[in-house]
Amino acid sequence: MTMNDKPTVLVTRRLPQAVEQRLQRDYNARLNTHDEVYSSDQLLELAVGAAAIIPCHTERLNADVIARLPDSVKAICSFSVGYDHIDLAAAKKRGILVTNTPDVLSNATAEIAILLMLGAARRAHEGARTLRTNAWADWSAIGQLGIEVTGKRLGIIGMGRVGLVMAQRARGFDMEIHYYNRHRLSPELEAGAVFHPDLHDLLPHSQFLSIHCPATPQTHHLLNAERIALLPDDAVVINTARGAVVDDDALIAALTSGKLFAAGLDVFNGEPNIDPRYRELDNTFLLPHIGSATRETRDAMGFRALDNLDAIMAGREPGDRLA
Ligand code: DGY
Repeated sequence: MTMNDKPTVLVTRRLPQAVEQRLQRDYNARLNTHDEVYSSDQLLELAVGAAAIIPCHTERLNADVIARLPDSVKAICSFSVGYDHIDLAAAKKRGILVTNTPDVLSNATAEIAILLMLGAARRAHEGARTLRTNAWADWSAIGQLGIEVTGKRLGIIGMGRVGLVMAQRARGFDMEIHYYNRHRLSPELEAGAVFHPDLHDLLPHSQFLSIHCPATPQTHHLLNAERIALLPDDAVVINTARGAVVDDDALIAALTSGKLFAAGLDVFNGEPNIDPRYRELDNTFLLPHIGSATRETRDAMGFRALDNLDAIMAGREPGDRLA
């Protein structure tokens, strides 16, 4: 196959080196060497003649953009497990196959959820700031007291791939696991976790609440004022899923009033322009959407997206078809 016979693939962001090398080996890859975030118009222009697009969650492939994609585009192989940035129905209507990258980022994301849980509960942000601003005056028996994680009850919203790993890791802290999910899991997968068929039943048990459900129209602002009120006082909220699942006004009000002890957040509405009030609060432990950001996982995500792409280009069914 000569260079010119290779299908053209638009890659919207810089990807790990090994992934870009494989792309260049097998495709006529339009790489984004400066890693700028393309506007929709730029993306549409760059997609002319491309057989496929590999976007990240930073590109919004809504119904309008998908309707305007050139006819050459046959596949969207997202470098992400989340697919709230892609209008699947619009893609289906145009006969464009869509895939994501499940499984490979479950460990990395659960690790960040554990980090957020510990960081929020133990006031890591305040401690780190004390050192970095050279403000550490003395050790204190009563200063910077956090909440112990060990032995507490953890509520998990969404017991899918990441939620399951989160539960497993949390058992290492002797946490009692409760979960809300669309379906009850098998006893093997449940491993003693308590199923709550109704979210309102889960919340009063959740001294720690970790969100692992996808962002969909049904989960939009799932965590709102009414539901936060059902959490025990001094609960800690952890979100590694998507910002859209949380009503920022409600969460910020509960963090400000002291209803909640703290929140550990890796994802936000309007990223990267997060609600500035989160930054003002001492009881937030904030990270910039790095749940899947390990060398191992980002390589694996890229290879998984390429496995899907290879299958589609060879006329085979891709492993992770969404539409
Ligand atoms: C995902 O894969 O959905 C992560 O949030 C990164 O985009």
